[in-house]
Amino acid sequence: MAELGSVTWPPAPITTERLVLREPEVRDRAAFIELLASPEVGAFIGGPQPRDELERAIPEEPRRRSGLFVVDLGGAMIGQVTLTKDTGHLPQAAGRAELGYLFLPQAWGHGYAAEACEAVLGWFADVLPGEPVVLATRTANVRSLRLAAKLGFTEAERFEEWGAEQWMGVWKGTWA
Ligand SMILES: CC(C)(COP(=O)(O)OP(=O)(O)OC[C@H]1O[C@@H](n2cnc3c(N)ncnc32)[C@H](O)[C@@H]1OP(=O)(O)O)[C@@H](O)C(=O)NCCC(=O)NCCS
Repeated sequence: MAELGSVTWPPAPITTERLVLREPEVRDRAAFIELLASPEVGAFIGGPQPRDELERAIPEEPRRRSGLFVVDLGGAMIGQVTLTKDTGHLPQAAGRAELGYLFLPQAWGHGYAAEACEAVLGWFADVLPGEPVVLATRTANVRSLRLAAKLGFTEAERFEEWGAEQWMGVWKGTWA
């Protein structure tokens, strides 16, 4: 996945009231597999991935990459937040910073995703002041839309991709 060019990576772990946002570690491997194999998590993002393929593909020490934060609650990974360069949902968004989030279903409904994403956006606003962030999600993904609105994203466009209506929001900044 594309990196955010001028940002120094990794930052020091970010601590919130309940969470730590940090780089992946060996102990996170099972949670990565759970996350990507989960039918609930995959419902609006292309479906779950076969567990046996994930077992083969994910190394013992999950790969670290620029813009990937593991969300840690009490020492265990409950999800991930990514901030990477948009890979081109729409020409207007290409190259922008794009926020993504995936949480294990048992961690939904506690405000953890909002708490983690707010912290990541806060970090980003410190390192690249004034730089907008985009976010694309299916309009049918109600939880994701609620979270986007809570974080302060406002609708920029609706468009069709992968056979479904998508919502693109922008955080702090102008669209064009
Ligand atoms: C999208 C996703 C991250 C949202 O997770 P979430 O837990 O609903 O989001 P939040 O962190 O904002 O939590 C909101 C819920 O926590 C509740 N909550 C409980 N305690 C809370 C607290 N202390 N603070 C804030 N909210 C709290 C809220 O009332 C709300 O509950 P509700 O869903 O019953 O209305 C999650 O559904 C997910 O991982 N989905 C699969 C992946 C996906 O589709 N990602 C989008 C890709 S574009």
